[in-house]
Amino acid sequence: MPQARAASSAMPTAVSINLIDPIGAQRRATGVPELDRVLDGGLVPGSVTLLVGEPGMGKSTLMLQALGRMAADGARCLLVSAEESCEQVRMRADRLGVLEPSLLVVSDTSLHNVLAQVDAVAPDVLAIDSIQTVHDPDLPGSPGSVTQVRECAQRLVRLAKERGISVVLVGHVTKDGQLAGPRALEHVVDTVLQFEGDRHHALRMLRALKHRFGSTHELGLFEMGEAGLIDVPDPSALFLTDRRPGLPGSIVAPVLEGARPLLVEVQALVNSSTAPMPRRSAQGLESSRLAMLLAVLDARAGVSVADVDVYASVAGGVRVIEAGADLAVAIAVASARIGVAVPDDLVAIGEIGLGGELRQAGQTPRRLAEAARLGFRRAIVPASSAGVEGIELIRVGSVVEALAAVGLSLDQQRAPS
Ligand code: TYD
Ligand code: MG
Repeated sequence: MPQARAASSAMPTAVSINLIDPIGAQRRATGVPELDRVLDGGLVPGSVTLLVGEPGMGKSTLMLQALGRMAADGARCLLVSAEESCEQVRMRADRLGVLEPSLLVVSDTSLHNVLAQVDAVAPDVLAIDSIQTVHDPDLPGSPGSVTQVRECAQRLVRLAKERGISVVLVGHVTKDGQLAGPRALEHVVDTVLQFEGDRHHALRMLRALKHRFGSTHELGLFEMGEAGLIDVPDPSALFLTDRRPGLPGSIVAPVLEGARPLLVEVQALVNSSTAPMPRRSAQGLESSRLAMLLAVLDARAGVSVADVDVYASVAGGVRVIEAGADLAVAIAVASARIGVAVPDDLVAIGEIGLGGELRQAGQTPRRLAEAARLGFRRAIVPASSAGVEGIELIRVGSVVEALAAVGLSLDQQRAPS
């Protein structure tokens, strides 16, 4: 029998699982409620968080607001601004109202200098804006190259663990993957937050793509305003403020963004087309999903859109990527095509199959509760749905039944205006 190896003095002792301290106890709230919601309470000491998004989304703004609030709360915060001068950062901080004495700022791009600064300052929180502009002159590659970005990040991860510092790295990415550097970091860091939004809207969404210290199901919502990012604690109310009731082609859908129910208005417009290939435009919806729903409407419900342009959109700059909004999209298109408005106290929930049948969307009760909270009184849902208090359910099995239930009958179908 081989002899058991002697345990090294550095070997950790195994402990009962119930005696281990929970991580939550040490979290530091950032003081930005929607950010804390996504982080499941705040930043964990010794952890590294990567904040990615397209240029101009508001990453630097979010970072500065969070550092300012943590500094106001007594944390020592160091911002390494590798893109903007200290004066530019001050100007922005002034606008955001975060001129806090314990928020320290240095403008530098050398990793060696950053490490020396951390020695000198001993911060609780360190933010690097951005990881693409920091570089180590001893390593090959230009700043922003995958090697540089990865090596610098790995060094900062070690630093975070050794010193118990909460580190946040900002990284630029583009939709077409042009700036791919930070993507190579996803497995190196503990948490990846993605900041996204539509350039033409003030709405910004923050999602956790990866989170070692909590759920990745929370969505954070902000509006970019004059004085930085404003939390949007009640997005459903915001999305519905400008709704004009009584218009054909409009219905409200309770969708789920992670764990968060949101009420959004789905709109459709049909217009006679002179083009050989009529136009299909989907805003905030997947165009392939819209194409499939148009085909089902035609084949299973007799609502033909072959000769018309179809525009479908989700109002307010939200992007809906789940099938739970299918029924609302189908009803909006049929309502626009037939030219009859659906009642405005009504919401629609459900996925549509190729047979025209309605299927359950995840967490229907949660969606119904949000609709009831905002004053909707009736919901059109798949036959098997369970109900919640305060909202009447109209249970249907198919698209055809759904259209009939909301007063859209095919004999009303008229030539498009
Ligand atoms: P920024 O945080 O610089 O984006 P990123 O770091 O992701 O590139 O900010 C993006 C935009 O937001 C910028 O064009 C200016 C605008 N902005 C406001 O509208 N209000 C504000 O208070 C601030 C600070 C910026
Ligand atoms: Mg920036």
